[in-house]
Amino acid sequence: MPSLETEYLGLKLKNPIIVSSSGLTNSVERIVELEKAGAGAVILKSMFEEQILNETSDLLQHNDYPEAADYLLAYARENSLKTYTQLIKTAKEKVRIPIIASINCVSDSDWETFAVDLQEAGADAIELNIYPIPTDKNKSSAYYESIYFDIVKNITAKIGIPVTVKIGKTFANLIYVADQLHAHGADALTLFNRFFEPDIDIDDLKLTSAEIFSSSSDMHSNLRWVAMISAKTDIPISASTGIHTGEDAVKMLLAGATTVQLCSVIYKNGNKTIAEILDFIDSWMKKKNFKNIEQFRGKMNYESIKNPSAYERSQFMKYFSSIE
Ligand SMILES: Cc1cc2nc3c(=O)[nH]c(=O)nc-3n(C[C@H](O)[C@H](O)[C@H](O)COP(=O)(O)O)c2cc1C
Repeated sequence: MPSLETEYLGLKLKNPIIVSSSGLTNSVERIVELEKAGAGAVILKSMFEEQILNETSDLLQHNDYPEAADYLLAYARENSLKTYTQLIKTAKEKVRIPIIASINCVSDSDWETFAVDLQEAGADAIELNIYPIPTDKNKSSAYYESIYFDIVKNITAKIGIPVTVKIGKTFANLIYVADQLHAHGADALTLFNRFFEPDIDIDDLKLTSAEIFSSSSDMHSNLRWVAMISAKTDIPISASTGIHTGEDAVKMLLAGATTVQLCSVIYKNGNKTIAEILDFIDSWMKKKNFKNIEQFRGKMNYESIKNPSAYERSQFMKYFSSIE
């Protein structure tokens, strides 16, 4: 019987499947069901910086006193935080799997105090979902990268629980950014976030949202970066986006991920997907005679395969030249 146990963020997980930060994890009832369905850990829905600020600006619209702004901001933060810390406390009482809290930050605000509160509420770790959208033509890439590094440095200096950082792919040099996040205190990375994607309704000339849920084909470019970053840096990786099947999960582990996160597939097919994916990993390991995940993790990463350039551009040239 192969063992699916794994370690992530210094936590012992009974298997490598983590339910991603989303509405799937925003209530104790749902978390209890996800544990029953076999999840190795869950990441709570994020506390959003914009959410807190929007709540406050709604309140401010009905308030004529500018000096009330600070008070209202503090009130909105406190209220969101209270609900969130209560969710952590109750979830910790009801389930045994690790509970990872999540903060969505777009600026280097005072996240340290929040992080301390989440730690005190009993969170096993914190995922920082950072995404400052670069909109200023006068600011360099290095400036935007420094926002990530500062947030991570400031938060990790204040708390003792592990911190993982969830990022997107839009960096000039992802391997450098991954390594620097590690150097600034991140214990792991979640690669990658899948952001809201805009679309345009050409009849009504309105901005709309593209498909919210991913599909399996979304995992391939992530596979490359998991394979390269896991080989070239020491920071553990949790793979996210486009993992819909047992095959997808095995591929990410072979590429070097320590864990895999599921979201869209659970929204689409329900909690039963977790057991289906676990069954697949188990049978595949038996077929390949692997006794535990360590025996094959990273076996197909950038440094472990004979021809690492297969992960690079040369492969594209071969690929496209074969199409007339
Ligand atoms: C409805 C929905 C809500 C989400 N909410 C959050 C969130 O609060 N915080 C976060 O970091 N990611 C959030 N995500 C992104 C997911 O955690 C995940 O990274 C993304 O959906 C890609 O994974 P998937 O391909 O398995 O869906 C959300 C995704 C969906 C579909």
